[in-house]
Order: sequence, then structure tokens, then C-alpha cells
Amino acid sequence: MLEKVNKLVEKVNGFTPNSEEELNNFRIEYLGKKGLLNDLFSAFKEVPSDQKKDFGAAINNLKILVQNKIEEYKDSFEVETENSEIDLSKPVSLDNLGSRHPISLIRNEIVDIFNRIGFTISEGPEIEDDWHNFSALNLPKEHPARDMQDTFFIQTDPDVLLRTHTSSVQVRYMNENNPPIRTLSPGRVYRNEAISARAHCIFHQVEGLYIDENVSFADLKQCLLYFAKEMFGEKTKIRLRPSYFPFTEPSAEVDVSCNICSGKGCNVCKNTGYLEILGCGMVDPNVLENCGIDSKKYSGYAFGMGIERIAMLKYGVNDLRLFFENDVRFLKQFSSL
Ligand code: PHE
Repeated sequence: MLEKVNKLVEKVNGFTPNSEEELNNFRIEYLGKKGLLNDLFSAFKEVPSDQKKDFGAAINNLKILVQNKIEEYKDSFEVETENSEIDLSKPVSLDNLGSRHPISLIRNEIVDIFNRIGFTISEGPEIEDDWHNFSALNLPKEHPARDMQDTFFIQTDPDVLLRTHTSSVQVRYMNENNPPIRTLSPGRVYRNEAISARAHCIFHQVEGLYIDENVSFADLKQCLLYFAKEMFGEKTKIRLRPSYFPFTEPSAEVDVSCNICSGKGCNVCKNTGYLEILGCGMVDPNVLENCGIDSKKYSGYAFGMGIERIAMLKYGVNDLRLFFENDVRFLKQFSSL
């Protein structure tokens, strides 16, 4: 009997499984209900009592040996299975899903709001020429108002620049389309400004343009009130302050009632109760003519806003640089939106 156990010990010691299946069969052969060890334990009863001690120790030893063998090889097969048999039908884990960038979220929201009142999207190049970015917009060369937007010029060719606003897209759109025109131009723009909590050399804009017969300043005001309410809530009020842009006449800057203190005055609105969100005005007839539109027959309005500015107000972000740093801790906060 003892000899039989010793033979099994030798066999177990010499056993090296080549697959998970082999190891499994080995386990069943030794440790299964009808396995060798159970047989040996049953045989224990018949062993003469003076041999019981040695025999008992031997089969316990064999059992431990078998268990150690299984333990030793178990993990190596698990790893191999993971690598070699990738289950392509397995459901994807959603744990590490990314989130939309807050600038994209706000851009989409702005586009949605204007889509609902008939504005379509237009896009254009980020590298522009002088005509589309400035001259066509009533800003001839040497015009002092060019200084309002510090520009990145391409050194070898001063006619080529990075667009400072998406009004350049509107020029292109007017050249290619006849009124009525109702278009929205979202996009990235560039200005040679020092980077701070309130300014960046790259930012995003949405500009709107509406041209038809008899478009009035009242239409512009109503359109912007609609936008402000959709964006910041039904109770939002707007305020227009006279301003100057070379491409619009008259021009205005638009403030919305502060959505943080509801107009009562706080440190975000510097106790004025209002926050500036955009520039606008009636398209200057010179601009219409420059773009091939009859200014006697048609009139129109235009407006432009910075997406970062709207996002800061809407989400309570106090440093514009956060939008460009791509710090996951910042971006994660927008994952449910
Ligand atoms: N283009 C202007 C800017 O970038 C914004 C604007 C657009 C103002 C349309 C008036 C009308 O500052």
C-alpha cells in the first residue's frame, strides 16, 4: 500500500501540465469525488493499525503535493487565457468613458438655440487673408480700429493671418449666398494677447448674421433676448450699451442680468448686476456692398460672442486657462452633462 502511495508521489512530482485542461484533469484524477485520494482514504480503514500512522501521513502528504501543484500552475494558465483568447463579444466596460469638453458643450447649446429659430451653420478657414478678416469688414489697411484685435500675421506674407474673429466666415458666406441669410459661424480664433485668467491667445467664438429685407434693430434685440433666456434662464434680462465696431452701425454691447446674484450685485458682476456677453449691431452698408449685397434693398444684423466667456458664466469657472490645460480633474466635472 505504502509503495502505491510513493509511486503516486513520484508521478505527481514529475507532472507538468501543458494546458489548463490538463491541469483540470489532473485535479479531477486526484481530488475528484471518485479520485485517487478518496480511494486511498477509504482504503485507510483496512490498513493494519501498526501501519496506519505512516500510511496516514503519506496520503496527507500526497494530497498537499497535489494541491501545491495545482496552485503552482493555476495562475500561469489564467494569464495565458487572458492574452490569447480575447473575447470580442464581451460587453465594453463603461468605467473610463471620457466626457465632452465644456467648450463643445456650450458651443452645441448655442448652436441648438439658434437652430431653433432658423440659423444654419457655416464654417471657414482659420488661416485667413487680410480681405476676409479686415478689409471687407470696413477695416481698410491702416484703420486704427485694427488695433482692437491684436493679430498674428504670417511674417513672410502680411496678407496672411490667423483669423481674429469668425466674421471672416460671414464675409465668405455673403459672397456665396443670396439673402435671405441666416447663418451662425462657430470656430476657433486667435489674438496676440497675453495669457491670463481672462484672456488667451486662442479662444472660440460664435458669430451670427441675419440679412433680409426690412431687418431692424428691434429684430436684433428680440433675437438676443430669446438667446439670453434660453441660455441663462427664463428670468434673464438683457441690457444694450452703445458701442463701436467698424462693421456695424449702430453697434452695441449686450449684458445679461447676473445669473449668480440674479441682478442684486455680487463680486462676479462687480456689483453692477449685469455681465457682458457679446457685441452686435446692424451690418454696415459698406460691408454688404463689399460682399456683393445690395444695401438699398437689404439690411441685417450681426452679433458675436466668446464661447469661453459664456462657459465661464454658465459653469462658474473663474479662470479661462482651465479650458485649455486639459486637466482631467477639471474636465471630469462635466462628464454628466
Ligand atoms: N467680431 C466682433 C469681435 O470679434 C464681434 C462682433 C460681431 C461685433 C458682429 C459686432 C457684430 O469682437
